Amino acid sequence: MRNFNNYRMKRTRIADLLKSTDYDIRVNVKGWVRTKRGNNKIAFIAINDGSIIHNIQAVADVANFDEQILKLITTGSGISLTGKLVKSLGKGQNVEIQADEIEVYGTADPDTYPLQKKGHSMEFLREIAHLRPRTNTFGAVLRIRHAVAFAIHKYFNDHGFYYLHSPIITGSDAEGAGAMFQVTILDLKNPPLNEDGTINYKEDFFGKQTNLTVSGQLEAELGALALSQVYTFGPTFRAENSNTPRHLAEFWMIEPEVAFNDIIDNMDLAEDFLKYLVQYTLDHNFDDLQFLNNMFDKELIERLRSIVEVKYERLSYTEAVEILMKSGQKFEFPVDWGVDLQSEHERYLVEKHFKKPVILTDYPKDIKAFYMKQNDDGKTVRAMDVLFPNIGEIIGGSQREEVLEKLQNRCREMNIPEKDIWWYIDTRKFGTVPHSGFGLGFERMVQFITGMKNIRDVIPFPRTPQNAEF
Ligand code: 4AD
Ligand code: MG
Repeated sequence: MRNFNNYRMKRTRIADLLKSTDYDIRVNVKGWVRTKRGNNKIAFIAINDGSIIHNIQAVADVANFDEQILKLITTGSGISLTGKLVKSLGKGQNVEIQADEIEVYGTADPDTYPLQKKGHSMEFLREIAHLRPRTNTFGAVLRIRHAVAFAIHKYFNDHGFYYLHSPIITGSDAEGAGAMFQVTILDLKNPPLNEDGTINYKEDFFGKQTNLTVSGQLEAELGALALSQVYTFGPTFRAENSNTPRHLAEFWMIEPEVAFNDIIDNMDLAEDFLKYLVQYTLDHNFDDLQFLNNMFDKELIERLRSIVEVKYERLSYTEAVEILMKSGQKFEFPVDWGVDLQSEHERYLVEKHFKKPVILTDYPKDIKAFYMKQNDDGKTVRAMDVLFPNIGEIIGGSQREEVLEKLQNRCREMNIPEKDIWWYIDTRKFGTVPHSGFGLGFERMVQFITGMKNIRDVIPFPRTPQNAEF
């Protein structure tokens, strides 16, 4: 017989129960069983509900329960457990529950439940992305991911920025990268054709060719040139075939854009913002960070603390190339002025040479996007990349070219038809002002903070070449 009062009893999150200083109250927890141990007199059940890294332990007097019910309680099963919250005598926990009522919602067959045992490889867990959130590691990563997202909105809100929603489907190519996912409703087997044999996109849904966005920057600039300070925070898509531990085909990007800021202001904002996010997680996610520190990366917390304290090194691309060429280091990709820096070069500068984050500026114009402000030397643009330990490039940004003629010239040189971005060019015709912004790769930031080796392990359902199963 179910006691009506118990049945109505509200669930308490384990995170709240573990903080409780009220004892001998009746409580209800719901969650997934991590372990069950004991003997024929007493059973110890560790339950986790994902609200916190720690489990709550429940103690059940075997004599008080139907034997069949206790048998169903195995690792992975989903249960509701009610009982008295008491001060725990065991080590490592403040409270435990003396169970008097247990309902098994769903069993998990020990012979087939993939998370029956601990210590699976990250590669294996990627194959069971539908279940891996139930592991301690992914619980910690997902809670930290949430905290970083929240901190991003908090930082900008507290600093007078407005959240601008840039479109996901676009008709423009913001980065000129050319690696975009096309969005179409045309029949792939039998598309409408123009007389010259090319596809007639006038018959497509939007009456033109469209893609998933690679960046919200161009739209963010439109917002900044009205609201002064905006940021975007949304998914971005790149169809590059990059199978690296730092690339996703679908990732989230944060792009602040500020009218009247020059490149120095932009660097100051980036440095302050990054430090804030790291400090936020140190303040709010310490248990999860400590778990990751102990399990995977013994220097994690120390590294996070140092990132908040140091002043980032600022130097030009040209100076960085000189350092790399003089380093005597054998790189897989040789360095010379004009080449795009590879992750091995970036990490050498950060981890070996300066031993702190580095902000590089003034890159050769030929390896950067059309919108960057041109320097007077005719060779470089006012770009800035922030390079982090273990990650390499975490931020890419620039001061923008606000002078109409210079922007038009650069579009011509780079074969970007003005008719495709006439609306962007318009902002340089009407009330143009200096402005700057940058893009932070959200997953690279979460990767840095969690110390995860592979970016696929900091997003719930990674999209990478040949992989979109879950
Ligand atoms: O350097 P990117 O390409 O810059 C832009 O898109 C500019 N529109 C940003 C701006 O100025 N508003 O990308 C910015 C950041 C990179 O520094 C990196 O952290 C991340 O986005 N990123 C990726 N993260 C995961 N997977 C990928 N394939 C990424 N490509 C870029
Ligand atoms: Mg970049």
